[in-house]
Amino acid sequence: MHDRLILGQTLAFAGDPFLLGPEAADHERRGAILIRDGKIAAMGDGAALRAAHPGADVTDHGAGLILPGFVDAHAHYPQTAIIASWGKRLIDWLNSYTFPEEARFSDPAYAAEVAGRYLDLILAHGTTTVASYGTIHPQSVEAFFEASQARGMRALAGKTCMDRDTAPAYLRDTAQSAYDDTAALIARWHGVDRLSYIITPRFSPTSTPEQLEALGALWAAHPDCLMQTHLSEQTDEIAWVKSLYPQARDYLDTYEAHGLLRPNGLYGHAIHLEPREIDRLAEVGAAVVHCPTSNTFIGSGLFDMGLRARMRVGLATDTGGGSSFSMLRTMAAAYEIAQLRGQALHPSELLWLATGGSAEALRLGDRIGRLALGREADLVVLDLGSTPGIAQAAARAEDIWQAVFPTIMMGDDRAIAQVYVAGRAVKG
Ligand code: GUN
Ligand code: ZN
Repeated sequence: MHDRLILGQTLAFAGDPFLLGPEAADHERRGAILIRDGKIAAMGDGAALRAAHPGADVTDHGAGLILPGFVDAHAHYPQTAIIASWGKRLIDWLNSYTFPEEARFSDPAYAAEVAGRYLDLILAHGTTTVASYGTIHPQSVEAFFEASQARGMRALAGKTCMDRDTAPAYLRDTAQSAYDDTAALIARWHGVDRLSYIITPRFSPTSTPEQLEALGALWAAHPDCLMQTHLSEQTDEIAWVKSLYPQARDYLDTYEAHGLLRPNGLYGHAIHLEPREIDRLAEVGAAVVHCPTSNTFIGSGLFDMGLRARMRVGLATDTGGGSSFSMLRTMAAAYEIAQLRGQALHPSELLWLATGGSAEALRLGDRIGRLALGREADLVVLDLGSTPGIAQAAARAEDIWQAVFPTIMMGDDRAIAQVYVAGRAVKG
């Protein structure tokens, strides 16, 4: 394939801006990225790279800001159609909206239609990698991986497991079938092209201890797989967990006691944690995922970004508990929640959470999430003046952070000028 040279402003993080400050990012006003075989082969000054690679196909994005594609570390693609459903809190929301919709994914044709629709929506919003839950139906994961593969995307997903009578009968597996179906999906998909399987018990209230134990054993046999689940999202949910697992020390212990606390674990929400839970997550080296639009939409609570000092933290939409497909909107919500807790996240920190930070949470930091040599060329190009309101605010900017912050706070899919998946332009 021909070399492709894309020109624009570039913002390349050498490391984590929470540790290094905004200086961790190198901003080139007229930068360029050379893409070869789907990867970043060179970066630097636009004019210099253009002279050095006269044979490359050139795309000039002008003042567009080239960033790594956004990485959404926790979503439920089967909830695409029920996003923005009114008036419920977590447990009622699951029973009223989520479970009836997820039942429809027993139909492979419906699963394929929604998987394609969802992936096209997130690409249009600049997200190039997502870690998604499926439904209990293995065919929901087949459909998602097939649609991701057809688009050349790096994607992660798992069959959601629920075998307890707290979940509706029409949406239950068993400990054995969850083990067998998951094992078969790992064998069929894990490591194929750009796809990774994630072992996925929904959350401890909808699994029996036997199912958690079975999935813990399966994870021990496949420790390179990630495991994703939910943890301490709402206080009602925590009380429910306590009543269902009276022996457990706390919510995390319901996972820990069954082999479901390991370094490759991803614990979604993690809002109302006990000190012991924080200590254990940190000791083990697990990651938590912040889902800010979901936490305000379902009324869950205010995540503590201070956890970053102890563990990896990913950022996520949590579609359809989250109220947006956009990681821009998600960064804005993370900013607002941190403000309510007395912390102003810098634009560099917000952008990092949505790219390199989420990639590290997913153990993919060496492949995606950064503009760096050898990384996969999954890129988003932002128009920093995509609406009149954003443009007039950005016009006053004195540096790149002031220029990008109005887009973070007010931007949507109109701000996404182009998206590259492994170096291939997918928009327009
Ligand atoms: N907890 C268990 N399942 C879900 C879900 O689908 N969405 C959210 N937000 N929380 C959950
Ligand atoms: Zn979720």
